[in-house]
Amino acid sequence: MLPSLPRLAASLALLTSTAYSLPRNVLSGPDEGITLSPQSSILSARDTACNNSPDLCSKSYSQVTHMGAHDAAFLRDASTDNSIAGNQYFNATLALDAGLRLLQAQVHNKNGVIELCHTTCDLLDAGPLEDWLAKIKGWMDANPNEVVTLLLVNGDNQDAASFGSVFTGAGIDKYGFVPTGTQGWPTLRSMISSNKRLVTFIASIEASQAHPYLLPEFAHVFETPYEVTSLAGFNCTLDRPQSAGSTGAALQQGLLPLMNHFSYQALSDAIMFPNVGDIDTTNSPSTTTAGALGKHAQTCQSQWGSKPVFVLVDFWDHGPAIEAADKLNGIEGKTVGRTTPAGAGGSNKKSTGSTNAGTVGMGRASLVAFFMAAVMLF
Ligand SMILES: *[C@@H]1O[C@H](CO)[C@@H](O)[C@H](O)[C@H]1NC(C)=O
Ligand SMILES: *[C@@H]1O[C@H](CO)[C@@H](O)[C@H](O)[C@H]1NC(C)=O
Repeated sequence: MLPSLPRLAASLALLTSTAYSLPRNVLSGPDEGITLSPQSSILSARDTACNNSPDLCSKSYSQVTHMGAHDAAFLRDASTDNSIAGNQYFNATLALDAGLRLLQAQVHNKNGVIELCHTTCDLLDAGPLEDWLAKIKGWMDANPNEVVTLLLVNGDNQDAASFGSVFTGAGIDKYGFVPTGTQGWPTLRSMISSNKRLVTFIASIEASQAHPYLLPEFAHVFETPYEVTSLAGFNCTLDRPQSAGSTGAALQQGLLPLMNHFSYQALSDAIMFPNVGDIDTTNSPSTTTAGALGKHAQTCQSQWGSKPVFVLVDFWDHGPAIEAADKLNGIEGKTVGRTTPAGAGGSNKKSTGSTNAGTVGMGRASLVAFFMAAVMLF
């Protein structure tokens, strides 16, 4: 006997929401006449997963830990001559492929264009924000079950209208999620089905009625310190916005916690660059090693009574950092649809980051800019 259409729909809905948490026989009751298994070719795990896991679909956005690439556009690779100012070995598209869902970057005003520049455009210029957003939009088009978050540091305090025209130009505004006041954050599934699955935080902008999806960062997020120069330096203290008072007060106000977990190597008080020397320890999911990502997250979770919603790391392929987020999300070893780039976590990369190679990839002008501006790295 063929099941009626509503009945089939109900079975599919059940499969979608519970295929991975219910024993198989629940999916094919004796009177159904059909068997739907998780192996069904109609519904692949990829289709039923949200952010790489079926278990995350019913979680609210604020119950998920979103692993993020700090300075995602600033690469230490052939495109920058292995600049020591670079924070990542692999670009934002590859970060998304590997399961990261938060991309942070810094922008500056270069002759009227919003440009991805690291501290100054002389130091490291990764091109116009609009081009980068267009690539992220392309990735989101191809990956309709993924909720992505952007966090932009607004180096020259450009206004929401300027960002708005760049987002529109890239076509990514169509995914822009607008929170609805008092209702808290929706589930990933709901953001995916409404196709409003890009959350954009920008530091130092005013909320804009014309571009309501451009969210002033510190109206929604609080951060731990970001200028850490040793593995012992990571803690869970509120750094920004200072006006929130304390982590407890910030959580009470509904601000989502962002744990910064990257360290700088300091050449002097004023000169710092991303530290690759300790990166395998820094990004380790270990919950017992001092300075490790896993331990830092666990410490914050116990101090705050809730886990970090956002985490930012450098050189995300090391660790790999995503493992710590999977642990926090309870989906370790159960994810689908990720790919890791060739050479990820490679030890060959490490040598380019030593202090001795300090001038690799830096012309004289950029070196001078670097020395003058390094205090501002964040
Ligand atoms: C990352 O690199 C890949 C492969 O080279 C390229 O196709 C993609 O457009 C790049 N993404 C970004 C954001 O630059
Ligand atoms: C956390 O780290 C920041 C930055 O290093 C420091 O200023 C602050 O005092 C630390 N907090 C605690 C509780 O140690």
